[in-house]
Amino acid sequence: MKRSFIREILEHTSSNTISFAGGLPDVSLFPCEALQSAAHTALQNAESLQYGTSTGYAPLKEQIAGHYCNRGFPTTPENILITSGSQQGLDIICRYHDGASIVIEKPSYLGALNIFKLNNMKDYSVPLEEDGIALEGFRQSIAKSKLAYLIPDFQNPSGRCYSDAHRKEIADIIEASQTLLIEDAPYSELYFHAPHKSISHMLPKQSYHLGSFSKVLSPALRVGWIRADVELLTPLIAYKEAMDLHTSGITQRMVCEYLKDDTSFEKHLQTLRVAYQEKMHYFCQQLDLHLPSFEYTQPKGGMFIYGRFKGVDTRALVQQCLAKGVVFVPGAEFGGANDEIRFNFTYSSFEEIAEGLKRIKSVLSSN
Ligand SMILES: Cc1ncc(COP(=O)(O)O)c(C=O)c1O
Repeated sequence: MKRSFIREILEHTSSNTISFAGGLPDVSLFPCEALQSAAHTALQNAESLQYGTSTGYAPLKEQIAGHYCNRGFPTTPENILITSGSQQGLDIICRYHDGASIVIEKPSYLGALNIFKLNNMKDYSVPLEEDGIALEGFRQSIAKSKLAYLIPDFQNPSGRCYSDAHRKEIADIIEASQTLLIEDAPYSELYFHAPHKSISHMLPKQSYHLGSFSKVLSPALRVGWIRADVELLTPLIAYKEAMDLHTSGITQRMVCEYLKDDTSFEKHLQTLRVAYQEKMHYFCQQLDLHLPSFEYTQPKGGMFIYGRFKGVDTRALVQQCLAKGVVFVPGAEFGGANDEIRFNFTYSSFEEIAEGLKRIKSVLSSN
C-alpha cells in the first residue's frame, strides 16, 4: 500500500518550502473569532464533553438537512450521517461495499483511490473530459459496476465542473442501471459564478452524497457527512460505530453554534469565493508570465489548476523542485499522464505564488 504523496510531502517539507501540493484552504480566511465564540458557547454546556449519538449531533443534522431543502433537495435529519470528515464517509461506504466494482474518473482524488485499494475494489477508470466523465466509457463501465464515484464540482485534481446537461445524462444512465452513485462534493460551495444542482438530487434513492465543512470552514474540525436515503444509510451506522463510535461532539457543536448565524456563514462563503477567484486569476497570470509552456484551463471554482508541460516527466521535475523549495503534485499520482501537474492556488500568499513559479521556471530552464 503506497502512502499519499501529498501527506508524505506535507511531513517532509520545511517551513521555507512553497507548497502548491495539498488541497489546503487559505489560513488567513479561517473565521477564527466566530469559531472561538462558537467553541466558548458549546463549552458552557457540560453535555458537550459527553459521548454522543452515532449518527451525529441532532441539531447539526437538522441544519445540514435544512441546507439541502433550501437548495430544493428534500432532506430530513434521518438522511444524514455525520462523519469525521468526508474522507471517513467514503471509507464507511466502501467498507460496506467491500470488494465491489466501481467506476471512477481518470484522473481522480488520491485519497479515494487508496480507499478503493484497501477495500479490494475493482475500479474502472473513464477519462474525464471538459464537461464531465466521458459518456460512452461511463455507459460501458456502469454495466459491470455496482458503484460510481464522481466529483462533479471543481474536481480534485482536474478542477473541472460537470455541465448541467452532462449531469442529467449521468443521472439517466445511473437510473437505468442497478448502480449506486457516490457523489463527493467538498468543493460545491466554492463556485466563482453560480452553483450547480447535484447529480444526487436527480437520484435520491440511488445515491450517497458526501459533504464536508473542511474546505468552507476548517479541515481541523473533521466534520463531514453522508446524505442518503434511509434504506441506504441505515446499514452504514454499524460501520461508523466500529470505526470511532461517533464524530467529535465538541467540533460538531462548534459548527452547529457557528451555523446558527445563517447570514454570517453565507457572508463567509461569499468572502471565500471572491478571494479564491482573485487568487486563481493571479496564479494564472503568473503561470502565463513565467511558465508559458504550461497548458491548462482556468477553473470556475474550487482550489486547483490542472495542466501539463508537454513531454516533461513531472515526477522527476518535482524532485528537482523540492530541492529548490517548491512543491506541487505530479498528475501521475492521481492516475493522470506523466507530464501533468496539479497546482493548489488557495493556500499560498500572492508573494509565494510568484516566487514559487519563478523557482519552477529556474529548474526547467536549467534542464
Ligand atoms: C474530493 C475530496 N474528497 C474528500 C476529501 C476529504 O475531505 P475531508 O477533510 O472532508 O475528509 C478531499 C480532501 O482534499 C477531497 O479533495
